[in-house]
Amino acid sequence: MKEPQKIKESRLPVISAAVILAIIGLNELLLSGDFSSTYVDELLTVPFLCCLLRSVRPRLKGRLILPSFLLLLCGFEQMVCFFWDYGSLLPRGESAYRMLRRSLHYGKVFLIFAVGAAGYCVLNALANWFGQLMKKKTSPRDRIMLRVKVACLTTALVMSVVYVVWENNAIEVSYYTYETGRYTSGTPFRIVQVTDLHNKAFGADSRYLVNVIRRANPDIIVMTGDLVDRNRTDIPLGLNFMQQAAEIAPTYYVCGNHEQGLPKEEYDLLMNGIEAAGCAVMQNERVSLNCGSFDCNLIGLRFARLTDGTLDEIMPQNDNLNILLAHAPDYLDYYAARDIDLVFAGHAHGGQFRIPFVGGVYAPGQGFWPKYTDGVYRQGNTTMVVSRGLGNSVIPVRLNNRPEIVVVDLV
Ligand SMILES: [Fe+2]
Repeated sequence: MKEPQKIKESRLPVISAAVILAIIGLNELLLSGDFSSTYVDELLTVPFLCCLLRSVRPRLKGRLILPSFLLLLCGFEQMVCFFWDYGSLLPRGESAYRMLRRSLHYGKVFLIFAVGAAGYCVLNALANWFGQLMKKKTSPRDRIMLRVKVACLTTALVMSVVYVVWENNAIEVSYYTYETGRYTSGTPFRIVQVTDLHNKAFGADSRYLVNVIRRANPDIIVMTGDLVDRNRTDIPLGLNFMQQAAEIAPTYYVCGNHEQGLPKEEYDLLMNGIEAAGCAVMQNERVSLNCGSFDCNLIGLRFARLTDGTLDEIMPQNDNLNILLAHAPDYLDYYAARDIDLVFAGHAHGGQFRIPFVGGVYAPGQGFWPKYTDGVYRQGNTTMVVSRGLGNSVIPVRLNNRPEIVVVDLV
């Protein structure tokens, strides 16, 4: 005959499994509308929830096999997703070097899996420590208080992790209106800016990101550099996004520092691919656009040519509105000294960590406490819009700095 306590405990792993799956599922659904987008969140969520469970029921030692199995399952599921997503997009005839780079990229999945498992072990050890502590508490009141304290602390930790994962993956859309002084009637001309993706996928086939852009209903899309990351270059992933962007609206691209740092073979592959995807590569070029009731000059500068005089050479000699696409925002003085009306820039990643009422902490090219990280900056007749961008490079996590799409209406 089973003891009542045992029957009660035996249900807990099942309940925990249901809770874990529900949170993972909800998280994935809210973020991307599918179940195969991110992989870090599962690996972080599971060990923390296991710890929470142990803190509530410290005698569950032998029953942790099910959460462990879930951890393995999540890791396996994500590995399958990686091969499924990228395997079908591999270019044919790639070199052994490229194959090796790609294998290292896949290796990251195993690394994250190992970190997740190690995290689980550490938290399990903490739970054991908690069990020992419980034994020392003799009065029922002390034991209850200890459980309450540990449960509160663990819940706060879990909520913090879930929040950080959410804010690193949930795209924020920022809307601005720019008064051209030339608008007479009709619908405002809408520009959507995408920047600093750094090979971040945002759902299988970038579905979540593409849906956000599509919902913004742009007249044109501008991609202001760092589509790929030179440290983990995935050209098929970047091209897949550009192709989908071009299907939504005419898309214009300028090079960021990460594309510029690619080996020539990869750089050419990427630029040719972007053009083949139907996007315009603006390598120190300009085009004339009709924006409804007025015309504008759209000028694209390569990253290395931002202040070397190239802009003066390609500036058009007419009275149209001048819109500049330039990856780095640090040269507002230079842009303002020319006849630029509106600049779209990125590069700063919002300062990576944003402190309320202070701003970003660090940005490439600007160092600590950067000046241009987020929003609108004005100098003379020039307005510069700086997007926080979508992805990360060297530092993989953002704090208080959600990935961003910028929408500007020209009126
Ligand atoms: Fe970047």
